[in-house]
Amino acid sequence: MAKPVTQGSLFRSRLAKEFDDKTAAFHTSVNEDLRIFEDDINCTTAHDIMLHEQGIIPTKELKLILSALEGIRQKWRRGEVTIGAEYEDVHEYIETTVIKQIGIEAGGMIHTGRSRNDQVVTDIKLRLREDVLNISEATLNLVDALQRRATEHAESLMILYTHGQHAQIGTMGAYLSSHADILLRDQRRLAELYARVNTNPLGAGPVGGTSININRKRTTELLGFDAIHENSIDATSSRDWAMEAASVCAITMGDLSRLAADILEWSTVEFGYVELADEYASSSSIMPQKKNPSTIELLRGKTGEAYGALVELLTMEKGVPTGYVQDLQETKLTLWRTLDNTQICLEIMAGAVATMKIKPERLARPVQGNFAMAVELAETLANDAGLSFRESYKIAADLVNLTISRGSTLDKLKPEDVTASAERLYKKKVKVTQALIDKATDPKKSLQRRVSLGSPRPEEVKRMLREHGAEAAEQRTKLDERRSRLQTALDKLHATAARLSA
Ligand code: ARG
Repeated sequence: MAKPVTQGSLFRSRLAKEFDDKTAAFHTSVNEDLRIFEDDINCTTAHDIMLHEQGIIPTKELKLILSALEGIRQKWRRGEVTIGAEYEDVHEYIETTVIKQIGIEAGGMIHTGRSRNDQVVTDIKLRLREDVLNISEATLNLVDALQRRATEHAESLMILYTHGQHAQIGTMGAYLSSHADILLRDQRRLAELYARVNTNPLGAGPVGGTSININRKRTTELLGFDAIHENSIDATSSRDWAMEAASVCAITMGDLSRLAADILEWSTVEFGYVELADEYASSSSIMPQKKNPSTIELLRGKTGEAYGALVELLTMEKGVPTGYVQDLQETKLTLWRTLDNTQICLEIMAGAVATMKIKPERLARPVQGNFAMAVELAETLANDAGLSFRESYKIAADLVNLTISRGSTLDKLKPEDVTASAERLYKKKVKVTQALIDKATDPKKSLQRRVSLGSPRPEEVKRMLREHGAEAAEQRTKLDERRSRLQTALDKLHATAARLSA
């Protein structure tokens, strides 16, 4: 394959022949590198400004380099860059293009004191830190949507399930607030991940540093990194932060898939608790009556991608020796895919939650007279009738059976039913009033008695929503600060480059 640089490709001086076409196509990373195209230009710009400040690249050469880099950036932004498999990667393409434009005396200086090994990992981290912030924003938007709907439905009674069976009375607000909390934990994981991603490997060289008098603190500052990824062997060899990103994505997707499972079940005609907005539903090619919650099914299906990506990355990096190896090139493809997948799924879920119809009347339908009140009945007897919890539990179970045999409901129980059961099971005389039974079997009143911290009692749910809402807002402020720190650093880098190339 013909190369624009005088003789053969940039990095093959030691080799007599080029890759054959098939091997070139197999070996190149140019396709996945498109995502780090501008990051690579930023990385090189910062590196070369630092080299200039260190007295390594003279003013004249720096001007030529920075102008050439800016020209490539503009061409890229106009959509005019195409890179073929004759380039191993974007790094080779950019260095080759610069040299072609300004000659090898000046252009040949851009790679002084660095290697593609520290360069690529720097580029990936520059991109990933922004991706992490974008996923954080999408996560916080979903937290917001869940908290808003939870506030609306803090009083909407519904059954809570364990083993898919009626368990206790709760509220839709408590349910939605629980998922907001789960996603808020995912957000905290992302915030911690960000700190580990935003460290600078540039200047680590191929693996063991460089004898050129570089200044790693300066490129750290120029690129808006929070710290230096110090040890040159670690900085170039490690991809644990990529595995961590994939694992946060996998956990988040797993969390979404559980929310999805509930929404899907509750969208059935049998439940009818919720109905997706039309924008999130599909219909059938033959069954005209259909409203399929297929978007949410698809989202649940895409959880498989996230788990697959995590396993891919863990496997790619298992047992590879220390020091850059080409295996690591594969990290990018998988990482980009799972970041995009997670991002879109969060956005779709936020839209679906914000717009779905929640039907309090359908939620309430199974609540009245539900056997889920049996816990309440047992606890009320333990609290107010002087019985141990296990005695109350057995009496309540006896009353459940009695009620079932009558084809009745718990709220129809009479005091004499309770006293008869206590007498028969424990030879105990208990004092039970109708008011006590009513108190124990009325869903709304019983919810008021759910005094434990974190329970679905509406006041408690509202307290949690206030406090956790404040935490979400705090997380958003931190996210905005991180974004603007990055923006400021990059604006400054570009302004410095513009000044130095003028
Ligand atoms: N294309 C490579 C990657 O994506 C860049 C680093 C190549 N380094 C090397 N020594 N071949 O990982």
